[in-house]
Amino acid sequence: MSNFFSPISKDSYIFAKKGNPLFGTVQISGAKNMVTKIMTASLIATRGKLIIKNIPLIDEVFITLNLFDQLGVKYKINPDKSLEIEPGEFNSSRVRFATENESNRISLLLIVPIISRFGEAIVPRPGGCKIGKRKIDYHIKGLEAFGVKIMEKPGFLHMKLGKKGLRGSHFRLPFPSVGATENFIMAGVCAKGETIIDNCAVEPEIIELIKFLQNAGVEILIHGDRSIYIKGTNDIRLSEVVVIPDRVETISFAAAALSTKGDVFLRGARQDLMITSLGILEKMGAGIEVKEEGIRFFYKGPLKPVSVATDVYPGFPTDFQQPLGILLSQVKGRSLIHETIFEDRFGYLKVLNPLIVSGKRFVVGKTCPQGTRCRFWGKKRPHLSEIEGPVRFGEGQIYISDLRAGFALLNAACLSDGIKIYNLGLLFRGYENPVGKLKSLGANIELIR
Ligand code: EPZ
Repeated sequence: MSNFFSPISKDSYIFAKKGNPLFGTVQISGAKNMVTKIMTASLIATRGKLIIKNIPLIDEVFITLNLFDQLGVKYKINPDKSLEIEPGEFNSSRVRFATENESNRISLLLIVPIISRFGEAIVPRPGGCKIGKRKIDYHIKGLEAFGVKIMEKPGFLHMKLGKKGLRGSHFRLPFPSVGATENFIMAGVCAKGETIIDNCAVEPEIIELIKFLQNAGVEILIHGDRSIYIKGTNDIRLSEVVVIPDRVETISFAAAALSTKGDVFLRGARQDLMITSLGILEKMGAGIEVKEEGIRFFYKGPLKPVSVATDVYPGFPTDFQQPLGILLSQVKGRSLIHETIFEDRFGYLKVLNPLIVSGKRFVVGKTCPQGTRCRFWGKKRPHLSEIEGPVRFGEGQIYISDLRAGFALLNAACLSDGIKIYNLGLLFRGYENPVGKLKSLGANIELIR
């Protein structure tokens, strides 16, 4: 794979050490978890052209475009960060990931566009960050309810449609899964008749997918009880869509700035996408100023420890707990993070423990906090962390274990005596130019290719 946005080798690393407080302005890029979903959803249209504006220049987009190449989808990236897709004539029902490093969750979302066109699809099992088991049982059961016959093979899924094609379904998700909600929304659009999906996820990126489909002529509505109604249609009218700012990038830079006692303006950041998270930072005593063009985050005095539990939207997002974890490591007192979405997402704390030269090591426990029971209760999963700050990170080298851990480790390195970070592919998959942006805020950081 040659044309990644961020060409690096396996020996490339980032070196960072403590410097001045982060200060200045950065532009927040388009949301990773929206752009790839709109890209795949566009493939259910059989004619027309879609223009996606404000795409983030991240490798996840390129990995998805590689899958498009295999399908024969026509597309063009413009210098103004827009992506034009012409889904009309794609001609293959089979895709594979070039290497394991290039695998992602998007293969699951290609099933419906491919199978509704060819009656058959062969896609690789999804990859993505190793932050828990990441089962696909909801996807399998739900697609079967729409009439898809699925043969699970080692490494891939082979699917066929029966004579009746995709048919509308009434399906209840056992848990509000983001990916499964998106998959079934697309299946509902391509199916004959009506579909109701109960217990859906309603993350902002899913709402954007729904808005996109509604604007394309689909009859779709969300009820207050998290159920979504869709009337199947094959009349999809593509036009233009603008990617919303990445809320995880926003919180990552906010946490990094606050951890250095800095003051940054994140241009493009949107309050309405992150009410709960802003509330948590406010509770900790962070300075937050919401403006029309973005949000300013600034240190205005000692921060307080917190206890948070991650939850489905509009709760505190699992993708935010890693940036928050590093910030809490600089706050005096004991904080708790209870991870209730993914059962193994504290790898970043474990890799940092050996580098702590003063203060307490992070503790990752397998129980729920006293008096609470989440989905992982009694299952002995490492899903509760105790962070007692402040800690100081010394010198050393570490390997990134997953995407969001990647930025959290960069943040930790920017507070350290000097840390080298390897395995950068995971970081560049989801963050656009993270080193350049941190550098522009005054961080002591270098990418060594
Ligand atoms: C999406 O992953 C995001 N990825 C993740 O962001 C995000 O952390 C996650 O949603 C939760 O918000 C993308 O959008 C590409 P889920 P997804 O299905 O859809 C269980 C990032 O860093 N589950 O909502 O894969 C699952 O194991 C990434 O940007 C099943 O058991 O997550 C988990 O415990 C990381 N069976 C829970 O549901 C299934 O069939 C939520 O997962 C599906 C899910």
